Amino acid sequence: MMKLGCVHVFALMLCVSATDDFDWTKNDKTPFYYGTFPTGFSWGAGSSAYQTEGAWNVDGKGMSIWDAFTHKKGKIFQNETGDSSCDGFYKFKDDINLMKEMKLNHYRFSLSWPRILPTGLKGEYINEKGMKYYNDLINMLLDNKITPIVTLYHWDLPQVLQEKYGGWQNVSMVNHFNDFANLCFERFGNRVKYWITFNNPWSIAVEGYETGKHAPGLRMKGTGAYTAAHNIIKAHAKVWHTYDMQWRSKQKGLVGISLTADWGEPVDISNQRDIEAADRYIQFYLGWFATPIFNGDYPQIMKDYIGRKSGQQGLGASRLPVFSVQEKSYIKGTCDFLGLGHFTTRYVTHKNYPSSIGDSYFADRDLAELVDPRWPDPGSEWLYSVPWGFRRLLNFVKAQYANPMIYVTENGVSEKILCTDLCDDWRMQYFKDYTNELLKAIKDGVNVKGYTAWSLLDNFEWDEGYSERFGLYYVDFKSKNKPRYPKASVQYYKCIISSNGFPNQREVESWKRTARETCSSSNQLLAADPLIGHMEMVTEIVVPTVCTLCIILSAVFLMFLLRRRF
Ligand code: NOJ
Repeated sequence: MMKLGCVHVFALMLCVSATDDFDWTKNDKTPFYYGTFPTGFSWGAGSSAYQTEGAWNVDGKGMSIWDAFTHKKGKIFQNETGDSSCDGFYKFKDDINLMKEMKLNHYRFSLSWPRILPTGLKGEYINEKGMKYYNDLINMLLDNKITPIVTLYHWDLPQVLQEKYGGWQNVSMVNHFNDFANLCFERFGNRVKYWITFNNPWSIAVEGYETGKHAPGLRMKGTGAYTAAHNIIKAHAKVWHTYDMQWRSKQKGLVGISLTADWGEPVDISNQRDIEAADRYIQFYLGWFATPIFNGDYPQIMKDYIGRKSGQQGLGASRLPVFSVQEKSYIKGTCDFLGLGHFTTRYVTHKNYPSSIGDSYFADRDLAELVDPRWPDPGSEWLYSVPWGFRRLLNFVKAQYANPMIYVTENGVSEKILCTDLCDDWRMQYFKDYTNELLKAIKDGVNVKGYTAWSLLDNFEWDEGYSERFGLYYVDFKSKNKPRYPKASVQYYKCIISSNGFPNQREVESWKRTARETCSSSNQLLAADPLIGHMEMVTEIVVPTVCTLCIILSAVFLMFLLRRRF
C-alpha cells in the first residue's frame, strides 16, 4: 500500500513537471542561430483541395459547403469562387515538377470528401473518377520520392450532409466521417503513411458556426462553435481508433491532427494577471482541441470560465458540452503526431466582458489582444511577422503535452492584392526568421520532425478570395492556363532545404542575392503574360474565325463562278 502511494506521488510529480515547466517569465530573444536541422528532417509545402483543385463540378464531384457558400452573393471578396482556382486538378503533374525543382521531401494536400463521396455517404455512391485522381497524384508523388502527407478534412464538407444533418452540429457526422476515412485508409493507405484527420478545427468551429465568415456561414454565438468542436474531437478520436484497430499493423502509418494557433504573449511578463490571460488565450485556441486529445478533457480554465459565464447568463448548464467518462478515456491519447499550423503572435492582457453583452466564444475568454505597431505586416491584416512567438509556442507545446512528435503543417506569409512583384523580400525574411526560431526550438529539445511552408501556390484564400497570396509560386488567375511563376522565395527556400538549415553567415547572406537575380527574369515573364494571353486569344478565336470566313467566302465565290459558267 505504502509502495503504491509512493508510485502515485512519483507519477504525479512526473506529470506536473511534464506539463508545468513552461516559463512564462523567460522570453529569450537570442540572435540568429547558425546551424543545421537534424538529419532526416522533412521539408515540404502545402495546399488544400478547395483552395487549389478547381474542377468543382467535374467527373462526378458532389457539391461541398464551400461551393454552396461561394456561389451566394456577398460572402467572399468580390464574389470570387474556387470553381477553377489554380486548376490543380488538371495541372498536378506540372505542380509535382515544381516540388521536384525545390527538392521537397513531402507535400501536404487534402482529399475532397465530395469528390470521393458526392453525397457524403459511403453507402450511397463511391466516385471512382475522384479516386483515380488522388491515386494518380499519390503515385506520381511517390515516383518522385515526395512523401504525401494527407489531410482528410480541410473544410469542404459535402453539402448534402450540411443540408440533411446540420453539418458539425450533428453527432451523426462522427460516423459519416469515420466511413469516409476508413475508405481512404483502405484505398490509399498502402502508400500514404501520414494522415491528418482535421485541418484547423478551431477555424471550422469558430468561423463556420460562430462568426459565420466561413462556410456554412452560421452565427450560433456562444454555442455553435463549442458543439461543432465537440463533434469534431469525437470524430477525430473515432478515426484514430479505426486506423489503430484495422490498419496500423498492416500499413504502419501515423494518424495526427493539425491544430493552428497564434502565440499569445503576456503584455507584461511580470504581471500574473497578464500571464493568466495569455494562458487563457492559448487554452481557448490550441488547448480546446489538444488537451482532450492528449489528456482526455477540455482545459480546466475553459470549463471554469464558460461554466461561470453560463451560470451568470441564467443557463442551467454550461454552454461547453461535457465528455462522459468513457468518452474521455476513448479520446485521450489519440494522436501519433501533432500537426501545428502557426502564422503570427498577439500581446494579451486581461479584459472583463460582462455577461450582459451576450454569449460569445470571444467574450468567454475575458481578454484583449494587442499588436506592436512596429511588427511588420506585409500581407493579410491579421498577420504580423513575430518569429520569436513561434519558438515560444513550440516550447509551450513541449511543456504542456509531454513533448509530442510535431510536424509543422503550415507556416507562411501573404502579400497585398496589387503586389505583383515576384522579388518577395519580406517572404524570404519571414521564412528565414521563422525557420531559424524553429531550429532554436529543436535545440531547446522540442521534438519537431518536419516543416511545411504554406503554400506551394497562390490559391483561394477563403473569404478573402484571391486577394491574399500565400504562395511560393505566383499564379496568374486571370490567364486561362493559370501559369505559375516562381517568386524569389522559391529559390531561397531551396537554399534552406539543400543546406538543411543555415550553414554560416557568409553563405546565408548570399542566398537573397541569388534569389533576387532569378526573380527579375520571372518578373519580365509575368509582365509579358497579358501579351501571351492576347496571342492565345488570337490563335484560339481570331484565326479559326478568319479561316472559317475565308472558307465560306471562297465557297460562295466558287458557286457564283459555276453559276455564270452554266
Ligand atoms: C490556415 C488554413 O488552414 C489555410 O487554409 C489558410 O490558407 C491559411 N491559414 C492562411 O490563412
